[in-house]
Amino acid sequence: MSERAQAAPGRRTVMGAGAAVVGAAALGVTGTARAAEKNAGTSAGHGAGHRLDLPVPTVIGHRGTSGYRPEHTLGSYQLALDMGAHIIEQDLVPTRDGHLVCRHENDITATTDVADHPEFASRRTTKTVDGTALTGWFTEDFTLAELKTLRAKERIPGNRQKNTLYDGRWEVPTFEEVLRWADREGRRRSKPVWLYVETKHPTYFRGLGLGLEEPLAKLLRRYGRHRAQSPLILQSFEPSSVQRLSKLVATPRIVLLSGAGSKPWDFVATGDPRTTDDLIRPAGLKWMASYAQGIGPTLDLIIPKDASGRLTEPTTLVRDAHAEGLVLHPYTMRNENTFLPAEFRRGTDPNAYGDAFGAFAAYFATGIDGIFSDNPDTALLAAADFAGK
Ligand code: G3P
Ligand code: CA
Repeated sequence: MSERAQAAPGRRTVMGAGAAVVGAAALGVTGTARAAEKNAGTSAGHGAGHRLDLPVPTVIGHRGTSGYRPEHTLGSYQLALDMGAHIIEQDLVPTRDGHLVCRHENDITATTDVADHPEFASRRTTKTVDGTALTGWFTEDFTLAELKTLRAKERIPGNRQKNTLYDGRWEVPTFEEVLRWADREGRRRSKPVWLYVETKHPTYFRGLGLGLEEPLAKLLRRYGRHRAQSPLILQSFEPSSVQRLSKLVATPRIVLLSGAGSKPWDFVATGDPRTTDDLIRPAGLKWMASYAQGIGPTLDLIIPKDASGRLTEPTTLVRDAHAEGLVLHPYTMRNENTFLPAEFRRGTDPNAYGDAFGAFAAYFATGIDGIFSDNPDTALLAAADFAGK
């Protein structure tokens, strides 16, 4: 494919507050990769030789290129790579027989054609996942062989009608298939393909006897992505999942943060009184820096919006997180008006593109280290603009 951004941003080293222009973005650069590997299984945490050889700002292909293809398909990942995304995201959930597959959540009603399969009609059910009642079909009720009879489709056809052209084209990929694809593409390009891998609903799945972290760590070891300098970043909204992973592999880790007032589900489950608001204070950031190398906050934690949806003043989160040596990879930038801050919307069609470059510029100006985007080509051009300033 030739849909590739014309320019790539520069590289610089990020050490805490972010600074000098040299070869690589670094996370907690102390010790060596060998030391970090040794630490894995004991206390591999911040400062254990993690070093991300990625451009900054780093462009993360959110669920691949979900602005252009049905999310979490090999087609979506391939296009992200061809566009030049620096790192490509997978969200992971398990099947009934314990295989890890790439879906944003275990409810596959909206992203597959499962409703069109009469043989699975009786599997439709209502479950409570992380406190929310959901009715539909769920990956944990399907074997991998059954799941492989389904086809992926566009999640939000009302917003992204063009993407429905690709409905039915791809299967639900396993994470192992993605690892093989990444290895193959890496060899072809003589350059590693970076992956950004999230454990979804880890407490919920552990309760079903389908813990995510152990099979994930096993795959990372099998494919040589378990080291501090492996081309892969692990992420979770549940700090305990990130901590568990830190004991299994040395691969770099990011703690995801939902909006102000929210609470990680593992905190709810264990009665931990802290909220996201506590985690973004200096003590919370210091705590996360003891086992992770960065955070993935919502964009609203970087620049809150007012009641009309316009951006206000940036918070101190970038400065405070950098002070603890944490990088920031906020989520998610999308080009359509409906997803943009109000001042960047153009015209009256909610699904038309607005001034996405203006919004990217506002977010990059805060000093963030990277960004998740459904439109990696736009993000790359915006990052190049920013790096050229
Ligand atoms: O993982 C970063 C971003 O993808 C978090 O949001 O809900 O799209 O997984 P979500
Ligand atoms: Ca995600």
